[in-house]
Amino acid sequence: MAGSFVLNTGASIPPVGLGTWHAAQGLVGGAVCAAVKVGYRHLDCAPSYGNEKEVGMALHRLFQDGVVKREDLFITSKLWYSNNGPQYVPEAIQTTLDDLQLEYLDLYLIHGPIRLKKGSAPISENSLPCDIPATWAAMEKLHDAGRARAIGVSNFSCRKLEALLAVARVPPAVNQVECHPGWRQARLRELCRSAGVHLSAYSPLGSPAAAGAGAPSVLGHPVVASIAGRLQRTRAQVALRWGLQVGQSVLPKSTDEARIRENLGIFGWSIPEALMAEFSGIEQVKLLRAEFGVNPVNGYKTLEDLWDGEI
Ligand code: A2P
Repeated sequence: MAGSFVLNTGASIPPVGLGTWHAAQGLVGGAVCAAVKVGYRHLDCAPSYGNEKEVGMALHRLFQDGVVKREDLFITSKLWYSNNGPQYVPEAIQTTLDDLQLEYLDLYLIHGPIRLKKGSAPISENSLPCDIPATWAAMEKLHDAGRARAIGVSNFSCRKLEALLAVARVPPAVNQVECHPGWRQARLRELCRSAGVHLSAYSPLGSPAAAGAGAPSVLGHPVVASIAGRLQRTRAQVALRWGLQVGQSVLPKSTDEARIRENLGIFGWSIPEALMAEFSGIEQVKLLRAEFGVNPVNGYKTLEDLWDGEI
């Protein structure tokens, strides 16, 4: 795929990945097939999305029909919060590999700096203290064994990423975080750039369905609308292209074939510098805050603690 980014492992990560969060069962398999057929080579998955088995069936079909080869895809999955302890890591990745019908992942991420009781629902009462260096050491073993060709984290603030970098034998390759024109992550991006950690953007369209009623609309923002109008591109394309131009991979979710295609139409043109500057006028609001992660038992008494003030 045009303009891949290079990870600190030396591997390339395609700049656009299909997001599968909130991709409903019954739709996600078709979306994966449609995406690969129009040229996506990067899929972002997680067991907590409740759809990895269907993604795996779609991948199996694509490989069997010769549409794409495994080695030409970049597939990410994540270690869920209720497996955020070193003893759970080998079994958790095996379940994901079995569900996805794969031998290895291109990237395996700690889903976030939160630990929940085994098999429990994501509510604050289920929190447990979380030992990130211990979980990371188990992730490093997966990397050594080649089951995860790269390892990384998700939802890590600058402070938490710096703390991990200070103890990691294998430095994280990626920090996957919420990022879009309405939450631009300037400080984190600078840290990632200087530390050689690739920033990958989830909710790059502002997650219109997931962010909840009353949340500011990224695609409805007048600055995004105006830039899209002037460049004769769609608002989604402009939001995604902004992400690419600031140096991140973007993971738009869609189960609609026309939108899947539209979201890949961000190559062969660019947003001129003068228009890029206009994005800085968009007020910053973090949409996805993970309130359930707050509990004194894990050291997060407030949302400020969980995100280290980046909220
Ligand atoms: P759908 O799956 O019906 O296309 P994000 O990636 O930021 O989480 O956003 C995903 C949301 O944005 C989904 O609700 C998805 O709906 C919608 N979406 C995806 N692509 C587009 C697009 N090109 N234009 C408008 N909405 C889109």
